[in-house]
This record gives sequence, C-alpha cells and structure tokens, in this order.
Amino acid sequence: MATSARRKIALIGAGNIGGTMAHIILEKDLGDVILFDVVDGMPQGKALDLMEMRPTAHLDGTVTGTNSWDDCRDADLFIVTAGIARKPGMSRDDLIATNSRIMTDVANHIKEVAPAAFIIVISNPLDAMVTLCKRVTGFPKQRVVGMAGALDTSRFRHFVAEELGVSVDNVSASVMGGHGDTMVPLPRFCSVAGIPLQSLLTAERIEAIANRTRVAGGEIVKLLKTGSAFYSPAACAVRMAESILLDRKWVTPCAAYLEGEYGVQGLYVGVPVTLGAGGVETIHIIDLNDEERAAFDKSVQHVRELVSSLTPA
Ligand code: NAI
Ligand code: 2OP
Repeated sequence: MATSARRKIALIGAGNIGGTMAHIILEKDLGDVILFDVVDGMPQGKALDLMEMRPTAHLDGTVTGTNSWDDCRDADLFIVTAGIARKPGMSRDDLIATNSRIMTDVANHIKEVAPAAFIIVISNPLDAMVTLCKRVTGFPKQRVVGMAGALDTSRFRHFVAEELGVSVDNVSASVMGGHGDTMVPLPRFCSVAGIPLQSLLTAERIEAIANRTRVAGGEIVKLLKTGSAFYSPAACAVRMAESILLDRKWVTPCAAYLEGEYGVQGLYVGVPVTLGAGGVETIHIIDLNDEERAAFDKSVQHVRELVSSLTPA
C-alpha cells in the first residue's frame, strides 16, 4: 500500500478507456490517479485537462500524466488497458500477438514497481491477457482479475430494462464464460425486482436479447468505426476497483482464475465473484442446467484454445 492515506490508482494505457476511467475516478474521489502511456504528451495532456476541470467541478483528487514507470511505484491498484483495440472486421482474438507483447512488458514493470498491488486487466483478448498478466507477475490469483463479465452483464441489463421500460436498477442478471461471442448470458438467473425474466418476456424476446448481448461489443465497433466501446467498460472497471479499494463486496461476473470450480482447472473464465479488500474473495457456484452447462463448457473450450496460443512465459 502507498504511504499516503489517499489511494494511488495507476491506469496503464491512457487511451479511450484509460482517459474515461481517470475522469470517473476523479469524480468519485476514489484516489489519486497516475495516467501512464507510452505516447509522449498524451497522458500529460489528458491529466492537465482533468486537473483544470477540478475547480469548476469541486474536485480535489489529482491526475498525473506520465511516460515513466517510476511514477507508478507503490500504486495500490493498476487497471491495464494498454494495447490496441478492435477495428471493424477484427475479432478480439485478432489482437493477441500485439497485445501479448505489450502485456508482458506491462506486467514485468508492475511486478517491479508495485509487487503488492491489485491488477484489473481490460486489454483484449481479455481471458488470454489476464492469464498472461498473472503468469508474468506471479501474483496470487486473488490479486489479478479480468474485467469483462461486468460489462457483458451491464449490456444485458440495459437491453432488458429498455425492452420492459423499467429502471436498470431493478434488473439483476449474470453473464458467464469467456469475453467473446461464446459468452453465456443466463436469462434463468435474470430478474426484475425479483420477478423472473421468463415470466415477463417471451422465449423469443429473451433469446433475441441474449444474442444481442453476445455481439454487443461488435455492434459498437461497427458504429464507431475507429475503435471499441469505452464509457461502459471504464465504468465497470472503476466499480470493480471501488469494490476492492473500499471493501464493498460487490458480486459481479469477472474473469477469475479457476482451480476446480465449475470443473475447470487452471484457467481464467468469467464467473460470479465477490470483490473486496482481499481482491477476488469468493467464487460463487451457480447451479447450471444442461443447456447452460453445455454453453459454458463450449465457451471454456474457446478460452482454453485461445490461451494455448500464447507463447509460454
Ligand atoms: P485505445 O487504443 O484508446 O488505448 C490503448 C492505449 O494503450 C493507447 O493509448 C496506447 O498508446 C496504449 N499503449 C500501447 N502500448 C502500451 C504500453 N506498452 N504501455 C502503456 N500503454 C500502451 O484503446 P481502448 O479503447 O482504451 O481499449 C483498450 C483495450 O481494452 C483494447 O485492447 C480493447 O480491445 C480492450 N477492451 C476490453 C474490454 C473488456 O470488456 N475487457 C471492453 C472494451 C475494450
Ligand atoms: C467490447 O466488448 C471490444 O471487448 C470489447 O466492447
């Protein structure tokens, strides 16, 4: 932990998601932000812009833009978006070669400057990048977690709320599996103020919403044309960081390292977890039916193949 009473949060990658997270963290006053990127001037420019926003927005936290790993020393928590993002026609898996090189470099630096830190990985392909980050740092599984299920679940909840014309707050849901088109939305575990989704929507509408959730990242890539979603990924990752730093015990799907849970050994896969001061504190076991189980196993198999294409660290 940093010596200051304020928390130090290092955002590695100051692009679309990194910059948005810096803004959200500043607004929430969750801690002081180090905004790191390899591009000269860009993190400094974003940080200065955010610092100049503070008087008008009544904010006292700080954002420091940097190209130096030394500024990240002793950070309490890192959120990693370093890498390249999807462009139209690319799958998340197409990013693996470039982002593996970047993740290896980033993880080696984190290990050196902040060996006690928590790490939330966002870079794609998520399940492979979080695996690589854990391998390279050698950190315990509780301290290295991937952000994807929170986003996929947020999308699912939004689609349900929009369809029913209800508050998103009333919609509770879970999306498991890898962060790709094989992800597994779980309508049977979705409810609106406790009312099962299956009693509110037809099977056809539920299936349409589940299908849209599976390809929701690609829907935004097609619209943006120059990159991928960033507002909602940023919000999800900051909520995860908040739960760890403030011990909020938020239960959300995350890419967590499984050692026997769900019959999966030695693999990061999206499952519901409790995030608290200990990081990934509990992995929750949902009783999947045969159809859900088959979809989950298929997604796990896809993650296994993706991870096997990583060069051994
Ligand atoms: P972006 O391109 O706006 O930002 C990425 C930043 O990483 C760039 O500023 C780049 O200069 C920086 N970078 C490259 N190499 C670096 C290094 N060695 N050290 C530090 N920074 C480095 O991309 P964006 O939109 O912020 O997305 C970031 C990543 O997150 C992408 O891989 C994207 O696919 C992924 N993503 C993952 C999601 C998830 O649910 N897990 C959701 C949305 C995006
Ligand atoms: C997303 O789901 C591309 O992984 C990114 O928006």
